[in-house]
Amino acid sequence: MYALKSKPHSSYAKKAAFCASALLALVPAIAQAEPTVEVLHYWTSGGEAKAAVALKKDFEAHGGKWIDSPVAGGGGSAAMTVLRSRVLAGDAPTAVQLKSPAIMEWAEQGALANLDDVAKKEKWDEILPKRLSTLMKYDGHYVAVPVNIHRTDMIWANPEVLAKVGASKVPSNWDDFNKLAEKLKAQGIVPLALGGQPWQETILFENVVLGIGGTEFYQKALIDLDEDALKSDTMKKVFDEMRILRVFVDEDFAGRDWNLATAMVMNGKAAMQVMGDWAKGEFLAAGKVPGKDFLCQATPSNHGYLFNTDSFAMFSVEGADKIEGQNLLASLILGQKFQETFNLLKGSIPARLGVPMDKFDMCALQSEKDMQASQASDGFLPSVGVNMALPGNLTGAIIDTVTSHFNSEMSSQEAVDKLVQAVNLAKE
Ligand code: GAL
Repeated sequence: MYALKSKPHSSYAKKAAFCASALLALVPAIAQAEPTVEVLHYWTSGGEAKAAVALKKDFEAHGGKWIDSPVAGGGGSAAMTVLRSRVLAGDAPTAVQLKSPAIMEWAEQGALANLDDVAKKEKWDEILPKRLSTLMKYDGHYVAVPVNIHRTDMIWANPEVLAKVGASKVPSNWDDFNKLAEKLKAQGIVPLALGGQPWQETILFENVVLGIGGTEFYQKALIDLDEDALKSDTMKKVFDEMRILRVFVDEDFAGRDWNLATAMVMNGKAAMQVMGDWAKGEFLAAGKVPGKDFLCQATPSNHGYLFNTDSFAMFSVEGADKIEGQNLLASLILGQKFQETFNLLKGSIPARLGVPMDKFDMCALQSEKDMQASQASDGFLPSVGVNMALPGNLTGAIIDTVTSHFNSEMSSQEAVDKLVQAVNLAKE
């Protein structure tokens, strides 16, 4: 493994490395470095933590030493702040949970290690779908390894709560959603559990974009950032719907963590949540059964699938123990058995091809099926809300607009004007 843009070693470091290797050759008993990783991640909720522990245990079972560096805060913005300060201080963690656009930004700065050796040995080009492997490569070289495939276009519902207003199904378009939500609200039930954090509001927004605009519009507006699409009547309709949805959220939503919103659905305090399928990890961690205690259904769309792949990027570090640790971790993450164990806990589906799905539940099987259908029709699209789609500054422009609109009296016209302006500024 070598850094993509490796920094020259100091001559002192070279001498020290030479002496160390000479010593190690003389003392074979201690020549084996203990593979060590310090892992910076933000998996701290119930389901997330279980999945993270599965990775830690697998690593330790293979003789590795795991130093856990969790930074609480769903969506990961707190973790990214810590990462930036660690790298600036010259103290990068060995492995970091990152999304593809951020991976590319760090690789461009020469901060990441090259994983080609392990990728070649483990045949990553063959065991990963091409759509994922391209997201893991910078300049043709592997710099990260994917753990899973999540999706953000999901509604999680409590069937008992829906039954209180005579509903047995999750609505399949936004008009029906509004009608059902009105009925729930009239009964004093919170129709929509939401955490008022900008990234969560953006997950709601991207789902409305997908539902009202369709996959082609999503691509044009949120991926290509086409100005006509951004200021179109369709985008105004999206903001109109966001204004309607605002009324279905309870008064205490500001700042609430996503898993607390999931708990509201779980405990019958709210009827539905629009959230990525890490929410399923929460339901499962609490012993809830899909189809019985909770319903999972894709939000309305024309075969869209808003994907989100968690990956680990290895930062360029020195020391045989750390480099061995990075190689070991990278290789374990794509192990067939590990992919099964981890994704069963996390709520996602495997990143690796060919993992048996017989232990996966109805929500995961649906996800797999929808993913295939979306790929056949250009509907496999990255989520903006969880930083999968765009470089940080552009994601920021969209998120800021969505949250300013949602938390004010801003009109839909003002919102599209602001969106165009913010995106143009971020492009400069
Ligand atoms: C996403 C991440 C998921 C999940 C979620 C909430 O960014 O990809 O794995 O953890 O945040 O924390």
